[in-house]
Amino acid sequence: MRLEPPPPQAIVVFGASGDLTHRKLLPALYQLARQGMLPAKYAVIGYSRTETTDEEFRAEARASVEKAAGGDFDEDTWSSFADSLSYIAGSFTDPHAFQPLHDKLAEHDQEFEGRRLYYCATPPSAFAGIVDRLAECDLTGTTARIVIEKPFGRDLASAKELSAHIHGVFDEARVFRIDHYLGKETVQNLLVFRFANSMFERVWNRDAIDHIQVTVAEEVGVGNRVGYYNSSGAIRDMLQNHLLQVLAFLTMEPPRSLEPEAVRDEKVKLLRAVRPFSPDDTIRAHYDGFADEVKEPTDTETYVAARTTIDNWRWSGVPFFLRTGKRLPRRETEITVVFKDVPTYLYDSLDMAPPPANHLVINVQPREGIAFTFQAKDPGPGFKPRTVKMDFDYEESFGAEPAEAYERLLYDAMMGDHTLFTRADEVERSWEIVAPLLDGGRPKVCTYDPGTWGPTESNELIEPRHWHLR
Ligand code: BG6
Repeated sequence: MRLEPPPPQAIVVFGASGDLTHRKLLPALYQLARQGMLPAKYAVIGYSRTETTDEEFRAEARASVEKAAGGDFDEDTWSSFADSLSYIAGSFTDPHAFQPLHDKLAEHDQEFEGRRLYYCATPPSAFAGIVDRLAECDLTGTTARIVIEKPFGRDLASAKELSAHIHGVFDEARVFRIDHYLGKETVQNLLVFRFANSMFERVWNRDAIDHIQVTVAEEVGVGNRVGYYNSSGAIRDMLQNHLLQVLAFLTMEPPRSLEPEAVRDEKVKLLRAVRPFSPDDTIRAHYDGFADEVKEPTDTETYVAARTTIDNWRWSGVPFFLRTGKRLPRRETEITVVFKDVPTYLYDSLDMAPPPANHLVINVQPREGIAFTFQAKDPGPGFKPRTVKMDFDYEESFGAEPAEAYERLLYDAMMGDHTLFTRADEVERSWEIVAPLLDGGRPKVCTYDPGTWGPTESNELIEPRHWHLR
């Protein structure tokens, strides 16, 4: 399906010299340009503290886009995209620092009918200042929208404070909080898989499901983000946002429509039913060597595994196991839905082990797809069951790899579509769910060897079941 391009607008990227801009945002904008999904008229204005000329910014942007395109780089697309790029160096804290930005945007106002998309790709400490600077320089007219990267706050109180600060200038309808997991095709596919196939919804509940596991495993360590990561840890960096968002799509009730607020209402309703994590059902750990990277003793976790339940009619009594960690054996995000066992009496009479339960495995990345394991008769005499698999592979079926999450999110923000962005009440409820793990009573951190599936304690958390990826 060919989508219509967004209306003319200026896209201002704050934090333009940063890692996120170069690794994700510029390549995503270039890909949108290539697919004809940028506005007919647009300008991309980078803003950062680093002194750089327009020319240097374009050259750096080209290097980043080429790297991300991995050999599939189109000169024609690049040259028209590059014409739209410009750069302003300036502060985020000095009063009226955005005056040069104001003047630049004024040049385009007529062409773009005043539409602007401000993207805050800066460290979170700059978010409030950006909003103040925009307000002070009269840059917040009703056609301006703001995109805020994660993390949105450090806890419930700071998230509320930040929302209140932003709402002083931008009403909620113009605020787009990013959780890039919602931009992933396979996460969005959870909704289609559940609500466009009548057979799955019938078994998507406590009657048929024994438990659900979500694993977000990363092979990389904390890399050059030691400072940020040590003050954040896996609970704030991954569990509060990406994992809870995946859980919400996986377990929410069908919305009354696919309108953004209908979808977001159901997510919030679900999150309100998720029982806040208990320190007794949570394992925190960091990989051996993490303290050396931090260069001081640390009790920040690079791994967390937690069990929770959802207190509503559909899910009551079903355990959910969520885990994420860095320096695990490989990069893999997987959801495993484990169905209930069959009654065992048939197999008892044959003196045979009962067959393993059915599994539905949804691979979010890197090999996007869905597999269902079930039992078939082992060839030959008797009735011995054997586990077999039905497999859907995204790339094989659609002949292409799924698009980068940021392409979809940038496009939706330019269109003003909120469906895949988190609302203030949703973010706040997510902080409430992780709150018991953020201070005082949280579990002590243990250690695991890099390249393993985490500490052995996390196997005890899931017993008598076991992790599917191990
Ligand atoms: C980010 C976290 O939000 O997600 C990073 O801050 C993490 O620590 C990253 O590495 C994982 O994203 P993806 O898309 O590679 O799974």
